[in-house]
Amino acid sequence: MFSPVQQIKERLSIEEVVSSYIKLDKAGANLKAKCPFHNEKTPSFFVSPDRGTYYCFGCGASGDIFTFVEEFEGLDFKGALKLLADRAGIPLEHYNPKEESEKEKSYRIMEEATLYFCNNLTQNKEVLNYLKTRGLNEKSVKDFRIGFTPNEWRNLYEYLKPNFSDLEIERAGLIKKTGKGYYDRFRNRIMFPMADSSGRIIAFSGRIIGEGEPKYLNSPETPIFSKNVVLYGIDKAKDAIRKNNFSVLVEGQMDLILSHQAGYRNTVATSGTALSDSTVSKENVVSNLGLVRRLSPNIVLAFDADRAGANATIRAGRIALSLGMDVKVVDMPEDVDPADLIGKTGADAWREAIKNSRHIIEFLLLKVLKSCEGDMRKAGREIKEKILPFVNALQSSIEKTFFIKKISDSSGISESALQDDLKKIERELKYEKEEIEEAKETLGVTYRKDYIEQKLLGVALWQKSIAKPVIDFETIFKKLGGVYKKYEDRKEDLIFEAEVFYIDNEDLENDIREMFLNLEEENINEKLSKKMSDLRQAQNEESGKKILQEINELNKKKEDIKNNRLKR
Ligand code: CTP
Ligand code: MN
Repeated sequence: MFSPVQQIKERLSIEEVVSSYIKLDKAGANLKAKCPFHNEKTPSFFVSPDRGTYYCFGCGASGDIFTFVEEFEGLDFKGALKLLADRAGIPLEHYNPKEESEKEKSYRIMEEATLYFCNNLTQNKEVLNYLKTRGLNEKSVKDFRIGFTPNEWRNLYEYLKPNFSDLEIERAGLIKKTGKGYYDRFRNRIMFPMADSSGRIIAFSGRIIGEGEPKYLNSPETPIFSKNVVLYGIDKAKDAIRKNNFSVLVEGQMDLILSHQAGYRNTVATSGTALSDSTVSKENVVSNLGLVRRLSPNIVLAFDADRAGANATIRAGRIALSLGMDVKVVDMPEDVDPADLIGKTGADAWREAIKNSRHIIEFLLLKVLKSCEGDMRKAGREIKEKILPFVNALQSSIEKTFFIKKISDSSGISESALQDDLKKIERELKYEKEEIEEAKETLGVTYRKDYIEQKLLGVALWQKSIAKPVIDFETIFKKLGGVYKKYEDRKEDLIFEAEVFYIDNEDLENDIREMFLNLEEENINEKLSKKMSDLRQAQNEESGKKILQEINELNKKKEDIKNNRLKR
């Protein structure tokens, strides 16, 4: 039996896969690059074509083409498998597990629903016409798989019922229950399917036909959809973001589709939830922007010119700067969103608007100076309040100096006065900056730790389930301890994953040892990042010293693991 994983690995080299995402340079028998998974100036990310693996000495990220795609694209194993299988030209149908897992079923229901909504739309002249008046062409309607659901209570439910149980449809977020039974969540709406970066449909956003509340209705949280981790259009935009080396971030579905239609295929949308909402945690904003940043460090924000849009620009912009991104802002005319601009004035106006986008600090500075109308005392206050926090968020000192000079030139405030205020701001915002730093760190660490735990658990479960296990799975269970409970509902997925991944593996024993080493390293990283934050908050010199010593010991342990790995 040839597993698809083996076949894919034969066709796609690690070099080929990784270099389609980031630029690799020769380093002896290996290749090196700046690590895409953490911020760094000198490259410590190495790819070994012989072993088909990568390893980062800076942050400990490691693995093969599958883990790389998973981590880079924010996908689970099956998503990465789908993406790489497509790329290698290897059909996956034959490898479906005997039993479909709950998540698999949800994906299939979403796909069926998409087909159903699309089919509805082709039969509805009125809605098709509405889309046309909004400026959408037929190709966009087809490419984005836009659909329609009529003003009926149970159409979709009846359609899905023969093939899926009530519980399954409910779990996919498509129907709701009342005393009298089930009814469709989405009615009388234009349906926009949202996909993850491998193109699997994970949610819908439905726009009401005509007037009504809410204007947009979104899928609830489901096992395959977490509202906070999706950028609408990412599956279609990611290649163009890499190729053009910048992304455009808009607010709504219509904005996004029209921007793609106007030739900016590097556009993604927050779809109203992901970034602008203040109830969404910083960690989630960091994670959304993190994916975009791995594709390109340059981002252009194009939100509405209303209050909500301005807030989104401020929030997303500041965090993007903290992530080391280069952030520009499109100056949108009052009461016009990108969809209006493109729909009414055409693609040229949009191109012009993007071309005229300015660095976020310049953009905000112009706004402040304009609103102060020559009142220089007011301007001074506003600059300190509204602009310097953004200068503070810049990662590079050269950039900081550059913008201080710029602000000084256009406001007449001396550079040294601005520098003084910047120092104050730095102290005031220390907490905010640390919060983002911590979000960055913990995101990487928990992700990797969960990932390794799941891999190990999967191998053990798989081995336990077969007649002739080749490894001692009991020991793995023992070492993992209580971890098992955490992934109870992913059991089938994990077994499937382990089976396709390791079935032809001759060196499973060794790989498992390596995984435990990696896990230990992640545990140390987790402790380290906690100690670092303790250190920053240390009350006195003595407790600081003690923490510092603990940090040194943890670092020593990490060194040992690294040496251990190099020896093998
Ligand atoms: N949105 C949402 N829920 C709402 C309203 C808006 O999720 N109740 C999201 C949608 O993704 C929407 C975006 O926020 O596209 C921007 O909202 P808005 O500007 O009000 O909608 P438009 O995109 O202008 O809607 P349309 O062009 O369809 O009129
Ligand atoms: Mn809008």
